[in-house]
Amino acid sequence: MSVIENSKVTVVGAGSVGSSTAYAALIRGSARHIALYDIATEKTEAEVLDLAHGTQFTGSSDITGGSDISVVEGSHVVVITAGAKQKPGQTRIELAGTNANILKTMMPQLLEVAPDAVFVIVTNPCDVLTVLAQESTGLPPERIFAAGTVLDTSRLRWKLAQRAGVSSRSVHAYIVGEHGDTEFPLWSKAFIGTVPILDWETEGHPPMTVDELDQIAVDVRDAAYKVIQGKGATNYAIGLSSARIVEAILSDENAVMPVSTVLDDFHGVSGVALSVPSIVNSRGAVPIRGTQFSPSELGLFRRSADALRSVANDLRA
Ligand code: LAC
Repeated sequence: MSVIENSKVTVVGAGSVGSSTAYAALIRGSARHIALYDIATEKTEAEVLDLAHGTQFTGSSDITGGSDISVVEGSHVVVITAGAKQKPGQTRIELAGTNANILKTMMPQLLEVAPDAVFVIVTNPCDVLTVLAQESTGLPPERIFAAGTVLDTSRLRWKLAQRAGVSSRSVHAYIVGEHGDTEFPLWSKAFIGTVPILDWETEGHPPMTVDELDQIAVDVRDAAYKVIQGKGATNYAIGLSSARIVEAILSDENAVMPVSTVLDDFHGVSGVALSVPSIVNSRGAVPIRGTQFSPSELGLFRRSADALRSVANDLRA
């Protein structure tokens, strides 16, 4: 499937998100070689074994891994999931200090063994970690980006699809901004097929109201809190989202996805990483400049940028 011969993705972090990403990549055939790297030797080797035991059923991909950095060598894509995770009730931003330090130590080591890789940051707060890692490594912004609101967008499309009685693949709508509390949907550009979201109506599915859409946006924003409250972590949907991003890179797809790159005068926003619809291919991700915001969406976008800028500044200080 991948256009890169012998394509290799390494997932860094063998916790529930990292293992689920490797699992999703394995069963989707996202890359020819999948590696799992983590300093916790026993846990990582056990996850790799458990995944490898299923490869009879997953096509041609293979899975290797361990706690030696050489595991990462030759990767075309490195997905970073390592770090502290949210506890029930905790925000993603509260993890910033701890996870920024982890990433700061790790990035030079990863770059040494995979100097040409595209880096996808999943560890939270992913937008803040992306801008800090981009600055400290000096990588071109397209080569280091966060999974951002790809998952939130999938959550939104699922909710709208349920309500409208269509497949979530027929919902064209995006969550943009922070992967976190200031994210928001681009309602002005939300369609089902070609029908603007508020005009959609079929038998058994009456038109949606603005209040309903507002509630859907809140539910999507708070979705991870709900899952973490119930089971201690989110892992399956973020694993699938990450595997899907890996495929877009390795297949040089030019797929449009709301990933988070460090912006340079995107509607006046610079120097923070935020999700906006972007073109994802083997070189990485580039924001789509033609993306239009309504005046209120622009206000929300700037609010998201200000919130993240202040967190990043605190960490730089
Ligand atoms: C979530 C985590 C990955 O939204 O931030 O599920």
